Amino acid sequence: MNILVIYDSIHGNTETIAKTIQKNLSTKFSTKLVKIDEFKLSDLDKIEVLVVGSPTHGGQATPQFQTFLKSLPAPSLKNLKFVAFDTGFLKKDHPFFLKALISFIGYASPKISKFLIQNGAVQLIPPKTFYVKDKQGPLLKDQITSAKSWTKHILKSL
Ligand SMILES: Cc1cc2nc3c(=O)[nH]c(=O)nc-3n(C[C@H](O)[C@H](O)[C@H](O)COP(=O)(O)O)c2cc1C
Repeated sequence: MNILVIYDSIHGNTETIAKTIQKNLSTKFSTKLVKIDEFKLSDLDKIEVLVVGSPTHGGQATPQFQTFLKSLPAPSLKNLKFVAFDTGFLKKDHPFFLKALISFIGYASPKISKFLIQNGAVQLIPPKTFYVKDKQGPLLKDQITSAKSWTKHILKSL
Protein backbone atom coordinates (compact mmCIF):
# COMPACT_ATOMS: atom_id res chain seq x y z
CA MET A 1 0.00 0.00 0.00
CA ASN A 2 1.27 3.47 -0.92
CA ILE A 3 0.74 6.34 1.51
CA LEU A 4 1.35 10.03 0.82
CA VAL A 5 1.87 12.36 3.78
CA ILE A 6 1.36 15.96 2.69
CA TYR A 7 1.62 18.95 4.98
CA ASP A 8 2.10 22.67 5.34
CA SER A 9 4.26 24.19 8.06
CA ILE A 10 5.50 27.72 8.69
CA HIS A 11 7.58 27.20 11.85
CA GLY A 12 8.35 23.48 11.56
CA ASN A 13 6.00 22.02 14.19
CA THR A 14 3.49 20.50 11.76
CA GLU A 15 6.46 19.22 9.80
CA THR A 16 7.80 17.44 12.89
CA ILE A 17 4.41 15.75 13.40
CA ALA A 18 4.17 14.85 9.69
CA LYS A 19 7.65 13.29 9.77
CA THR A 20 6.81 11.32 12.92
CA ILE A 21 3.64 9.95 11.34
CA GLN A 22 5.43 9.10 8.09
CA LYS A 23 8.29 7.38 9.90
CA ASN A 24 5.90 5.22 11.91
CA LEU A 25 3.72 4.36 8.89
CA SER A 26 6.80 3.39 6.93
CA THR A 27 7.42 0.46 9.30
CA LYS A 28 4.54 -1.30 7.49
CA PHE A 29 3.89 0.53 4.22
CA SER A 30 5.53 2.42 1.41
CA THR A 31 5.34 6.14 2.24
CA LYS A 32 6.24 9.48 0.75
CA LEU A 33 6.47 12.85 2.53
CA VAL A 34 5.74 16.03 0.57
CA LYS A 35 5.59 19.64 1.72
CA ILE A 36 2.72 21.53 0.16
CA ASP A 37 4.88 23.90 -1.89
CA GLU A 38 6.63 20.97 -3.55
CA PHE A 39 3.43 19.05 -4.33
CA LYS A 40 2.81 17.91 -7.92
CA LEU A 41 -0.36 16.16 -9.09
CA SER A 42 1.80 13.19 -10.12
CA ASP A 43 2.56 12.66 -6.39
CA LEU A 44 -0.96 11.20 -6.18
CA ASP A 45 -0.18 8.44 -8.71
CA LYS A 46 -0.76 4.99 -7.18
CA ILE A 47 -1.54 6.55 -3.77
CA GLU A 48 -4.10 4.60 -1.73
CA VAL A 49 -4.00 6.62 1.49
CA LEU A 50 -3.52 10.35 1.98
CA VAL A 51 -2.36 11.79 5.31
CA VAL A 52 -2.88 15.57 5.33
CA GLY A 53 -1.80 18.12 7.92
CA SER A 54 -1.79 21.91 8.29
CA PRO A 55 -1.20 24.46 11.02
CA THR A 56 -4.48 26.02 12.21
CA HIS A 57 -4.58 29.68 11.15
CA GLY A 58 -7.71 31.58 12.13
CA GLY A 59 -9.54 28.31 12.78
CA GLN A 60 -8.74 26.91 9.33
CA ALA A 61 -5.96 25.36 7.30
CA THR A 62 -3.38 27.84 5.96
CA PRO A 63 -4.42 29.63 2.75
CA GLN A 64 -1.82 27.64 0.84
CA PHE A 65 -3.21 24.37 2.18
CA GLN A 66 -6.76 25.38 1.27
CA THR A 67 -5.59 26.23 -2.27
CA PHE A 68 -3.95 22.80 -2.48
CA LEU A 69 -7.16 21.05 -1.36
CA LYS A 70 -9.27 22.92 -3.88
CA SER A 71 -6.77 22.14 -6.66
CA LEU A 72 -7.22 18.38 -6.27
CA PRO A 73 -9.14 16.97 -9.24
CA ALA A 74 -12.46 15.41 -8.12
CA PRO A 75 -11.73 11.96 -9.63
CA SER A 76 -8.50 11.67 -7.63
CA LEU A 77 -10.46 12.03 -4.37
CA LYS A 78 -13.26 9.56 -5.12
CA ASN A 79 -12.97 6.71 -2.55
CA LEU A 80 -9.45 7.79 -1.58
CA LYS A 81 -8.74 6.86 2.04
CA PHE A 82 -7.44 9.71 4.18
CA VAL A 83 -6.75 11.07 7.66
CA ALA A 84 -6.32 14.74 8.60
CA PHE A 85 -4.42 16.45 11.39
CA ASP A 86 -3.49 19.98 12.37
CA THR A 87 -1.44 21.84 14.95
CA GLY A 88 -2.78 24.62 17.14
CA PHE A 89 -3.08 26.03 20.63
CA LEU A 90 -4.36 24.04 23.58
CA LYS A 91 -7.33 26.02 24.89
CA LYS A 92 -6.64 25.55 28.58
CA ASP A 93 -3.16 27.12 28.29
CA HIS A 94 -4.56 30.47 27.14
CA PRO A 95 -6.43 33.39 28.73
CA PHE A 96 -10.22 33.51 28.68
CA PHE A 97 -10.60 35.58 25.53
CA LEU A 98 -8.32 33.40 23.41
CA LYS A 99 -9.90 30.24 24.89
CA ALA A 100 -13.33 31.46 23.82
CA LEU A 101 -12.04 32.40 20.38
CA ILE A 102 -10.39 29.00 19.82
CA SER A 103 -13.64 27.28 20.91
CA PHE A 104 -15.65 29.44 18.56
CA ILE A 105 -13.52 29.15 15.43
CA GLY A 106 -12.24 25.59 15.99
CA TYR A 107 -9.30 23.84 14.39
CA ALA A 108 -8.24 23.12 10.81
CA SER A 109 -8.40 19.32 10.67
CA PRO A 110 -12.20 18.83 11.04
CA LYS A 111 -12.66 21.33 8.20
CA ILE A 112 -10.10 19.54 6.02
CA SER A 113 -11.92 16.25 6.74
CA LYS A 114 -15.30 17.75 5.91
CA PHE A 115 -14.01 19.06 2.57
CA LEU A 116 -12.46 15.73 1.61
CA ILE A 117 -15.54 13.72 2.62
CA GLN A 118 -17.79 16.08 0.66
CA ASN A 119 -15.58 15.37 -2.34
CA GLY A 120 -15.89 11.60 -2.08
CA ALA A 121 -12.85 10.65 0.02
CA VAL A 122 -13.18 8.15 2.87
CA GLN A 123 -11.98 9.05 6.36
CA LEU A 124 -10.15 6.24 8.18
CA ILE A 125 -10.13 7.73 11.69
CA PRO A 126 -11.31 11.06 13.17
CA PRO A 127 -9.14 14.17 12.69
CA LYS A 128 -6.58 15.06 15.32
CA THR A 129 -5.05 18.27 16.66
CA PHE A 130 -1.51 18.33 18.02
CA TYR A 131 -0.68 21.21 20.34
CA VAL A 132 1.98 23.92 20.33
CA LYS A 133 2.89 26.29 23.16
CA ASP A 134 3.10 29.44 21.04
CA LYS A 135 2.83 30.49 17.38
CA GLN A 136 6.39 29.35 16.65
CA GLY A 137 6.06 26.31 18.91
CA PRO A 138 7.50 24.32 20.44
CA LEU A 139 5.18 21.34 20.40
CA LEU A 140 3.86 20.55 23.90
CA LYS A 141 5.98 17.86 25.45
CA ASP A 142 3.77 14.79 24.92
CA GLN A 143 2.87 15.52 21.30
CA ILE A 144 5.40 13.24 19.63
CA THR A 145 4.11 10.36 21.75
CA SER A 146 0.59 11.38 20.82
CA ALA A 147 1.54 11.38 17.10
CA LYS A 148 3.03 7.89 17.43
CA SER A 149 -0.12 6.65 19.14
CA TRP A 150 -2.37 8.28 16.51
CA THR A 151 -0.30 6.56 13.80
CA LYS A 152 -0.98 3.20 15.49
CA HIS A 153 -4.71 3.93 15.11
CA ILE A 154 -4.17 4.69 11.43
CA LEU A 155 -2.28 1.42 10.99
CA LYS A 156 -5.07 -0.52 12.74
CA SER A 157 -7.64 1.04 10.41
CA LEU A 158 -5.84 -0.20 7.27
C1 LIG B 1 -1.58 33.85 11.49
C2 LIG B 1 -1.74 32.77 12.55
C3 LIG B 1 -3.03 32.44 12.96
C4 LIG B 1 -3.21 31.43 13.94
N1 LIG B 1 -4.48 31.10 14.30
C5 LIG B 1 -4.65 30.08 15.20
C6 LIG B 1 -5.97 29.66 15.53
O1 LIG B 1 -6.97 30.17 15.05
N2 LIG B 1 -6.10 28.64 16.43
C7 LIG B 1 -5.01 28.00 16.98
O2 LIG B 1 -5.21 27.09 17.76
N3 LIG B 1 -3.74 28.38 16.66
C8 LIG B 1 -3.54 29.39 15.78
N4 LIG B 1 -2.27 29.78 15.44
C9 LIG B 1 -1.13 29.05 15.98
C10 LIG B 1 -0.68 28.04 14.93
O3 LIG B 1 -1.57 26.98 14.88
C11 LIG B 1 0.76 27.62 15.18
O4 LIG B 1 1.55 28.71 14.75
C12 LIG B 1 1.09 26.36 14.40
O5 LIG B 1 0.55 25.24 15.02
C13 LIG B 1 2.57 26.17 14.25
O6 LIG B 1 2.74 25.20 13.25
P1 LIG B 1 3.97 25.29 12.28
O7 LIG B 1 5.19 25.34 13.15
O8 LIG B 1 3.94 24.02 11.50
O9 LIG B 1 3.84 26.49 11.42
C14 LIG B 1 -2.08 30.78 14.50
C15 LIG B 1 -0.78 31.14 14.06
C16 LIG B 1 -0.61 32.13 13.10
C17 LIG B 1 0.80 32.47 12.65
